[in-house]
Amino acid sequence: MRESEQNSAEIRKRSHTVREALQAEGGTQVAILGWVATKSSIGGIKFATVRDGTGYIQVACKKDRVPEKAFGEFERATKESAVWVLGSLREDKRAPGGKEISASDFAILALAEMWPITKSAAKASSSFLYDMRHLAIRGKKASAAIKVRAHIVYAAFDYFVKSGFTLISAPSIVQNAVEGGSTLFEINYFDKKAYLSQSAQLYEEAAILALGKVFIFQPAFRAEKSKTSKHLTEFWMIEAEQAFAGQEDNIRLQEALVKAMAERVQSECSEELKTLGRSFKVPEVPFPRITYDKAMEISSKSGIQFEWGEDIPTEAEKLVSKEFDVPFFITGYPLSARSFYHMTEETNDKVTRSADLIAPEGYGEIATGGQRIHEYGSLMKRIASQELPSESFSWYLDLRKYGMPEHSGFGIGVERTTRWMCGLKHIRAASLFPRTISRVKP
Ligand code: 4AD
Ligand code: MG
Repeated sequence: MRESEQNSAEIRKRSHTVREALQAEGGTQVAILGWVATKSSIGGIKFATVRDGTGYIQVACKKDRVPEKAFGEFERATKESAVWVLGSLREDKRAPGGKEISASDFAILALAEMWPITKSAAKASSSFLYDMRHLAIRGKKASAAIKVRAHIVYAAFDYFVKSGFTLISAPSIVQNAVEGGSTLFEINYFDKKAYLSQSAQLYEEAAILALGKVFIFQPAFRAEKSKTSKHLTEFWMIEAEQAFAGQEDNIRLQEALVKAMAERVQSECSEELKTLGRSFKVPEVPFPRITYDKAMEISSKSGIQFEWGEDIPTEAEKLVSKEFDVPFFITGYPLSARSFYHMTEETNDKVTRSADLIAPEGYGEIATGGQRIHEYGSLMKRIASQELPSESFSWYLDLRKYGMPEHSGFGIGVERTTRWMCGLKHIRAASLFPRTISRVKP
């Protein structure tokens, strides 16, 4: 930044955010700080749309209403330049948001070079927008999805705090596989083998014995070889765990949480949903439930078969999910498709007390939860029968020696939930800087 620009930046203060300006009365004097999103001119009047992260507002600049220097700056301001606008608000139905600023002064605070993100460049290469993600996130749709994601998380925090859950943290560097060894990222931890955590669940199970009800919001890592529209290799998960609670309580908790998230997105993100061309209805509780067997039947009728005991293939899950317009649970998963900690039904030791929460319209699984084995002997047997390294699970087993009651919990994927609520084609659009099998940059 040139010295003169730096000085001017110090004195050029903001009186209103764009959002506040859009709510203020016509005639109000406003000073805005933001970035130029678009520019145009009609007749002798120059227009710019300025955004500041709270909204977009149209600015009109007439030569005879501003100092000569300001008019020159307005003409010189390129797309994505940081600017200061002083002016008065005018009601204008044609302007986005119904208001326009008639500029009385204007300055460039940081001039942008020619903006490289063009429609033709994006068309020419499918990875362009993600190679340029550090800039592309300024786009209206890209940032709308990120805002919705934020509100989904705020809703979860509000809901859990109000409901007496304590926020905890857990390490990301671990030695246990929670969800099977095939998706572990291995790291060299001072010449010892360690992994990036797939889920904080095991730590939550320790924490409920201290705190009763806990939740956590942190990244999870999966070396997913699958190149699908719902898999990231690093994503954020909200997990909750409760002592003295079975699978029915766990299902009720997920319903209430997802409803609270949907309500918040509807009430706080209407502009963002409009930008994304998305509408969805806040689901009523209770959510519908179908069994794993029923899901098999629905998908086999539509031509996708799988063996009883397998995890439901992504394509089959998508198909079943398209049958619903509200989220629903698939209950009664076979033990063979689940991780080692799952409790089985008293009447059938091949079926777990667990469920997946499936988003409708083909978006698929957003959460998995279930009741855990709380008894020492049973867990020991399970670990042995699955030939897991009991040494690395010794602390987890230990919990069962010291007053472990019936308990249950779940994990809900933040980006998958965002994808569904925003109606995004691919999960990567729900992440500010996505990590997938083929992307670790920017
Ligand atoms: O179904 P998952 O693997 O369940 C668990 O990790 C349990 N330990 C959670 C618990 O009970 N505390 O993962 C939970 C959720 C999924 O339903 C999905 O929403 C999300 O995490 N998830 C992914 N999101 C994006 N990319 C991936 N590769 C994901 N894997 C799981
Ligand atoms: Mg799952």
